[in-house]
Amino acid sequence: MKRILVIHGPNLNLLGEREPQIYGSLTLAELNAKLHEFAVEHNLELKVFQSNHEGALIDKIHSERHWADGIVINPGALTHYSYALRDAISAVGKPTVEVHLSDIHQREPFRKISVIKDVCIAQVCGLGWKSYIEGLKALQAEATMTHVSREGSMSEPIIEAKKDGPNLIKGPLKLVDASGKETLIDRPWVALCRCGQSQSKPLCDGTHSKVSFKADAAKLYQP
Ligand code: DQA
Repeated sequence: MKRILVIHGPNLNLLGEREPQIYGSLTLAELNAKLHEFAVEHNLELKVFQSNHEGALIDKIHSERHWADGIVINPGALTHYSYALRDAISAVGKPTVEVHLSDIHQREPFRKISVIKDVCIAQVCGLGWKSYIEGLKALQAEATMTHVSREGSMSEPIIEAKKDGPNLIKGPLKLVDASGKETLIDRPWVALCRCGQSQSKPLCDGTHSKVSFKADAAKLYQP
C-alpha cells in the first residue's frame, strides 16, 4: 500500500464555480471523489488537504512527512513564486508530482514559471482533473521500480527503462539513448515514462511537456 498526500493550494476550494472554462466544472469534492475511486482501485491510501494559506500547506507537508510515501500537489498560484513551498518539498525529500488542471504553458507568461518543478519528479498539466490521476500514476511507479544500486557506473547500467514505463528512479541519472547520446537528468527523483503515441512512443522524462529522449531503448547510469 502506498500512502500519498494530495495537496490543493489556494483558490482550489472554489473549483466548479471558479472560471469553469479554464478549470472545469467539477467541484473540489467531486475531484477528490475521483481520486479516492482511483486510490481504491490501485491500492493507494490517500490523505487530501486544501488550504488557501502557504504556511498551512507547509505545515501539512511537514506533519505528514513520516506518513507519506509521496506527494501530489497542485500549488495553485504559489507554483509561480513560493520558494518556501519549494523548500518544504525539498526538505522532506519525498517523491512529489506537481499538477495543474490548466495548461500553465499556454496561459499568461507568469504562469509558465514554476519554482516548484525542479524539486518534483514530474509536472503534469492541462489534463483537467486527470492531471491528478497522472500524478498518482507517476508515484505508483515507485512500487514497481527496480531498486537502483548506488554502485552503478558508466560501464554498468543501473536500470534499463521498462518498455511501458513509467520508472521512478532516485536521481541524478545519466541517460544514454540508443544512438549513444548522453543526457544528465539532475533531479532528486526522475520519472521516466512512455507517452506521445504519435511520436513513436519516445521515452519522456516524466514532465510530459518535454519529450526529449527519443529512443526505443535507453540505459540509465548513476553519473
Ligand atoms: C492552477 C494554475 C495556476 O496558475 C493558478 O494560479 C491556479 C490553478 C491549475 O490547476 O491550473 O490556482 O494551478
